[in-house]
Amino acid sequence: MNYTPPLPLTVYAERRARLAAQLGAGGIAIVPTAPEHARNRDNVYDYRHDSYFFYLTGFTEPNATLVLQANGQATLFCQPKDLEREIWDGYRLGPEAAPAALGVQAAHASTDLDSLLPPLLDNQHCVWWPFATHDGLAARVENWLANVRQRVRSGVQCPTRQGDLCHLLDEMRLVKDAHELATMQRAATISAQAHVRAMRTSARMLRAGQDLREYHLDAELMHTFRQHGAQSEAYPSIVAGGANACVLHYRAGSTPIRAGDLVLIDAGCELDGYASDITRTFPANGVFTGPQRDVYQLVLESQKAAIAATRAGARFSDPHEACVAVLAQGLLDLGLLQADQHGSAQDVIANRAYFQFYMHRTGHWLGMDVHDCGSYTEPGAAPAADGTQPPSRILQPGMCMTIEPGLYIRPAEGVPEHFHHIGIRIEDDAVVTESGCQLTTRDVPVEVGEIEALMRD
Ligand code: GLY
Ligand code: MN
Ligand code: MN
Repeated sequence: MNYTPPLPLTVYAERRARLAAQLGAGGIAIVPTAPEHARNRDNVYDYRHDSYFFYLTGFTEPNATLVLQANGQATLFCQPKDLEREIWDGYRLGPEAAPAALGVQAAHASTDLDSLLPPLLDNQHCVWWPFATHDGLAARVENWLANVRQRVRSGVQCPTRQGDLCHLLDEMRLVKDAHELATMQRAATISAQAHVRAMRTSARMLRAGQDLREYHLDAELMHTFRQHGAQSEAYPSIVAGGANACVLHYRAGSTPIRAGDLVLIDAGCELDGYASDITRTFPANGVFTGPQRDVYQLVLESQKAAIAATRAGARFSDPHEACVAVLAQGLLDLGLLQADQHGSAQDVIANRAYFQFYMHRTGHWLGMDVHDCGSYTEPGAAPAADGTQPPSRILQPGMCMTIEPGLYIRPAEGVPEHFHHIGIRIEDDAVVTESGCQLTTRDVPVEVGEIEALMRD
């Protein structure tokens, strides 16, 4: 038995080399993986590694820490072999096998971290670690530094600076390489298939007169994810029938879904450490009502405008602004906002009147984390003295983001009754290219006619 990371070892070695080159002379980086979390008595939550750690190692066991020196020396601390624990909990790579399996230069038992790490900090200038990401890590770094300081009278120098490793790694992770893009495409394809399966199941169960609940569709999603080898959901699936779609972070519950309802599903799998993130909203029985179709078409048009605005050289905020321009005009045209009260589309935008129905942004970075790391403003741009925001990030080829407009219509004064409780979001995943963007999630239909045709068959 052995452990094999999902990508070739050279990929992780190259990432570590790029990071090491940024640590500066006398720099050393400490990158722990995520802890395990208790769920209830004798149970832990499904384990998920830390994304930064995984990016640099491809290693998914808990209780591990990577230490990287500016000269490129990578030392892994990992769980020691332990026959009894392996009988109960499963295989452990162990420090003896780790250098060959992971391409690191040295490995030790994680139980030796507190004794072996401080000497590695001796005479270094700057300790880099991910700030504000791991409970208790700041205190552990303090303890390791205190250990070094206790030995200064023997001629050892203690590091004088600390740096936020996230700052370096976020920039590296923001632009995806060909390996990452290929994995993300596979994850997106699986998720699209899951959405297709859920749509078909919804129509089939209602046609058969069965008692359709949100959890039935949730189960179809998970079935497809696991059937195709995805390890888990990238985030808890949202399966919202009817009015539940207006709750942005709704979880799949047990609400009955009936003909005439819309179903909003926001779900994506995680495959080999990479997320996908798709939302589709469809009529439970496969046929949109008139008001549902009107709102759906508006959201779809706003998404098309956002997609057209997504290309290298544009700013991250451009798709959002393009989307809001379409929504603002459409809200007036549909009578959801009244011109005599709210003025023109420009006024609706300037006064944020659209916020009543559209209260989130049009997208976010996507990668190992569903809301992936990376600055949304231009790096190095200091906030202006007058408090205005620094300029939005300029998009580059290889950046990955979602494009996910929506409208959520709660009953309120002036809102026509036939729109009440309609909640619609359409979300696709995009890779920025020189000339535009490539959508990775279009194996699940998005046009009204295509959705109705799929659910009819
Ligand atoms: N599923 C989380 C999001 O769409 O942002
Ligand atoms: Mn999203
Ligand atoms: Mn989503």
